[in-house]
Amino acid sequence: MLRRLSPVQPDSFEFTPANLEWARAQMTKYPEGRQQSAIIPVLWRAQEQEGWLSRPAIEYCADLLGMAHIRALEVATFYFMFQLQPVGSVANIQICGTTSCMICGAEELVELCKRKIAATPHTVSADGKFSWEEVECLGACANAPMAQIGKDYYEDLTPAKLEKLIDAMSDGKVPLPGPQNGRFASEPASGLTSLRDLQGEADDLNASASLARQHGETLKRIDGTEAPILTKWLPKDRPDQAVDQKTGQNETTKDEPRPAKGKPVDATGVTNQEARADTAGRPAATAKDADGHNAAAGQTGDVGRRPEGLDAPRGGSADDLKMIKGVGPKLEELLHSLGFFHFDQIAAWGKEELAWVDANLEGFKGRASRDEWVLQAKTLAAGGETEFSRRADADGRYDEE
Ligand code: FES
Repeated sequence: MLRRLSPVQPDSFEFTPANLEWARAQMTKYPEGRQQSAIIPVLWRAQEQEGWLSRPAIEYCADLLGMAHIRALEVATFYFMFQLQPVGSVANIQICGTTSCMICGAEELVELCKRKIAATPHTVSADGKFSWEEVECLGACANAPMAQIGKDYYEDLTPAKLEKLIDAMSDGKVPLPGPQNGRFASEPASGLTSLRDLQGEADDLNASASLARQHGETLKRIDGTEAPILTKWLPKDRPDQAVDQKTGQNETTKDEPRPAKGKPVDATGVTNQEARADTAGRPAATAKDADGHNAAAGQTGDVGRRPEGLDAPRGGSADDLKMIKGVGPKLEELLHSLGFFHFDQIAAWGKEELAWVDANLEGFKGRASRDEWVLQAKTLAAGGETEFSRRADADGRYDEE
């Protein structure tokens, strides 16, 4: 596949202020002098903002990361996740044309795109809303034929189904991604042949479709205001958030009264001061849980890293953590005792922090990953709603099953 820059280019590109802040936060993930390692997420965000990558956008990203333009161009022209031509304002439809999809009818889908969108790929439709292209295997072969539209997969397609999807999107709707023939995931079309006893326990959507519904950004352009900024990587740009390496306190909390040394303030017997010391990378050697285990290593051994906690909710008022699927009153109490009161705290947990939390949810181990608390918290911290919080709000129920 020839991947060339568009002959038509805008004069300039600039991130929105929120996207620039997001990009700078990504850069802090890498050691000093290695900021160019952030090239893929930064290019991706530029594409999320504009829909495609123009030459000025690629060069802007290169300048931001202090790398030669040609290095960024090499990356952008290599991966077909990056669009080098203007795309439809609603969506660029990527039809998988590899073996399984080809055998199961991808050619008819391509024919439909030619008829309905434009005769040639990488061409914007007359109404400006759509473009299409054929791509290589997208890894959903068991649900062939399929297409990636926006950020999600629409599977088990027929020309009629794809046409309906395009019409719905043209009307401003975002149809639910996933299998379009009623299948839950990639089980046999005639139904399960094994593990049948699990059938009744399945959620209404498979994990990927459910995530797509939760994110709600299948077709959305990201100007940065919708995406929560990951506070974990803010210290370099936000001195007020920086953790003092000596005291383990940050600027916003350093004048607040601190718990007496060694005073247990949570269920595991760890003071938040000790927790901060742990976050700052130093051992909290004296911290013990109720059973006398070293709390810095978690109650089940050396698992993950303890996230930074707060002594009390900011402004004296905690978020309703029960709006997170999987958190009920008991778990909310436990989270408070660990120093977690707000959605943005949970949204900032990385892999290591999540592992620590999972290992320390006595009686509910693994719950945070299982129910994707971080993902839910990101949506809630950004002021959005999840499917669960919408329901919980309406009928006042919570979930700790
Ligand atoms: S062949 Fe189409 S997803 Fe793999």
